[in-house]
Amino acid sequence: MSNLNKKRILTGDRPTGPLHIGHYVGSVKNRVLLQNEYELFYLIADVQALTDNYDNPEKVASNIFQVAQDNIACGLDPEKSTIFIQSMIPEIAELTVFFMNLVSHNEVLRNPTVKTEIKEKNFGDSTPFGFVGYPVSQAADILFIGTDVVPVGVDQAPMLELTNVVARRFNSTYKTDLLKEIKPLFGVEKNLIGTDGDAKMSKSKGNTINLMDTDEEVIAKVKKMYTDPTRIHATDPGKVEGNPVFIYHDFLNPNLAEVNDLKERYLKGTVGDVEVKDKLSKAIIKFLEPIRERRAQFPLDKVKEIVLEGTKRTQAEARLRLDKIKEAMKIKYF
Ligand code: TRP
Repeated sequence: MSNLNKKRILTGDRPTGPLHIGHYVGSVKNRVLLQNEYELFYLIADVQALTDNYDNPEKVASNIFQVAQDNIACGLDPEKSTIFIQSMIPEIAELTVFFMNLVSHNEVLRNPTVKTEIKEKNFGDSTPFGFVGYPVSQAADILFIGTDVVPVGVDQAPMLELTNVVARRFNSTYKTDLLKEIKPLFGVEKNLIGTDGDAKMSKSKGNTINLMDTDEEVIAKVKKMYTDPTRIHATDPGKVEGNPVFIYHDFLNPNLAEVNDLKERYLKGTVGDVEVKDKLSKAIIKFLEPIRERRAQFPLDKVKEIVLEGTKRTQAEARLRLDKIKEAMKIKYF
């Protein structure tokens, strides 16, 4: 099917660090599947990353191509999908400014995801204005390219609601049908806990296994993983449910017979953590192998070319769309 007949998907990541296996099971794997059915745009959300890293732009800049490479290594196919950098599409920033008038101050402050994040980040009195407003900019990310579908985790639901509110208000205010409401694609995302048993794998918590980790790093991280805290000896019956090591086995070890055998013996107290972890390391290393191989085929200079090409393609389309949007707003003067 040519791209003309396909519906559009927009997905993206904030480039603030290398991607980890939590990203893989949570979004990247699904994204890679969706690119066959949809015309997929992958946004490297550097402007959004700056809303809470404005004083550390190097952190954002140094992860742009890394994040693109991680996605490509996982199977995002530059022949099928378009990868682009948010800050290189000035039309997104322009649209954000127009959208800011369509959303009330209170509405922005009520956004539950942003509220939680503001608390977590301990901004105190200094929450950046840009941070509070990032959902409006995210609506621009989504609407500027005529997106049909956005695959997201539940934490992003308020962003998508706001996106559709903005689309509706734009259309009714400027008497047009230019902006299309989007459909969120929920329920496909899975959350992987951290190696320390924390509810979320995240770089800031130092509990990740990264897609680019070496075998040695994987082995060392798995060795340190939390298991069943109540189990002292390998001969004690252990808990499988809620045990991080078994949660990882379930996610990442395709050898069901091996996993079931380990679980049975763990419950009986006839297998030690060492064997369970050793088999988990091996499974993770095997899982990372094809990702590593694909990464080697796409060194950073090649990734840069791909991103530049995708960004140029997106820029051309963004310009045409913004012209239409300005026409609808009656501010296209020439
Ligand atoms: N907010 C998303 C995140 O934190 C990143 C993002 C920015 C995004 N713009 C987007 C996701 C548009 C989907 C659509 O991961």
